[in-house]
Amino acid sequence: FDAVDIIRIKRDKGVLSPAQIDWTIDAYTRGAIADEQMAALNMAILLNGMDRAEISRWTAAMIASGERMDFSSLRRPDGSVKPTSDKHSTGGVGDKITLPLAPLVAVFGVAVPQLSGRGLGHTGGTLDKLEAIPGWRAALSNEEMLAQLQDVGAVICAAGAGLAPADKKLYALRDVTGTVEAIPLIASSIMSKKIAEGTGSLVLDVKVGSGAFMKDEARARELAETMVALGKDAGVNTVALLTNMNTPLGLTAGNAIEVEESVEVLAGGGPDDVVELTVRLAEEMLACAGVRDADPRAALRDGRAMDVWNRMIEAQGGDPRAALPVARESDVIYAPADGVLVELDAMAVGVAAWRLGAGRARKEDQVQAGAGVRMHAKPGALVRAGEPLMTLLTDTPEKFERARDALEHAVVIAPEGSRPAQRLMIDRI
Ligand code: URA
Repeated sequence: FDAVDIIRIKRDKGVLSPAQIDWTIDAYTRGAIADEQMAALNMAILLNGMDRAEISRWTAAMIASGERMDFSSLRRPDGSVKPTSDKHSTGGVGDKITLPLAPLVAVFGVAVPQLSGRGLGHTGGTLDKLEAIPGWRAALSNEEMLAQLQDVGAVICAAGAGLAPADKKLYALRDVTGTVEAIPLIASSIMSKKIAEGTGSLVLDVKVGSGAFMKDEARARELAETMVALGKDAGVNTVALLTNMNTPLGLTAGNAIEVEESVEVLAGGGPDDVVELTVRLAEEMLACAGVRDADPRAALRDGRAMDVWNRMIEAQGGDPRAALPVARESDVIYAPADGVLVELDAMAVGVAAWRLGAGRARKEDQVQAGAGVRMHAKPGALVRAGEPLMTLLTDTPEKFERARDALEHAVVIAPEGSRPAQRLMIDRI
């Protein structure tokens, strides 16, 4: 095959054959297709799309570029095979759900191999959050991961370099060529990693709204349907929820402060939306894994989920009881008027948290563990002029000004009696 011919086919709205797709992914991973050629092909795919068969083959070729993990040796105490289930969120602001969810699902005898990433841009990364815990480490070997899944039942760690290496190279290229937003490329990127990871079932939390990748519901639905089809084709029991990301989840966006809120949820408290989404996703994961009659809410109330959390953190070198880092400086934003808080924009809060040091602009940047935004009211709350709405946290106070700029239009306060147009659950696919 010739890379230029393949680019021309997609440029002219044609369909690539399975052999052409296999060759393309393999040649690019080996360095036989140049970045500029792959960039041109990605742009043609973004503009002209791919059909389901092409997306499916593209995903399979990315899986074949690396190793596949295998959890079939995991056993329950009675000797039966331990089912596995994983969750993937397309990313949002204040989305710390993985932290309480993984131990919660493990309570019911389902192993949760949660491979996670770091934050880039305004959405946070699960690994950055957990690294706020003194001693905790993200990097585990495959053997350590398997042992922890057997003993503790839940692991949250970094994906190893061997998993879908084609995607690592391709994602970095898409990032700098304006081609991240293509649904076939997003769906194949996410699903290649999840299928290669070897989970038996998967629940996708596809975010919709200002703080999400997908701003509108129709595109989010198309992404969700594409990913569910890819999962099912590969024998992974997959469902997707569409959930709202117009406002942050919970009352915190940052690293240590999100761990603190997650621990509140594990202790049976925490903000309603975080609890609701954690429980709903747990129910979906357990159903996908074939577990019936589980009551996740009870496991949050009675300490079983917290026990698994403590063991999971300790198994990765962390001290779950250690004090979390606290930002050195804080700055309060007050309500400008009396009324009902009807909007608190997720994107604005995400950008503010990022600018305060919770996130990174470049892959090599360090994040500040204590930085972020603590919210004091959620949409629907009655507020009074002069009341604190948000506290900005950072170690570097020169960052306050640009964080405040990001929040300039983040808040809408309407007359008393108004209701915010927010529902957390949008649909299930
Ligand atoms: N997350 C991924 O892993 N890949 C994408 O393409 C987009 C989001």
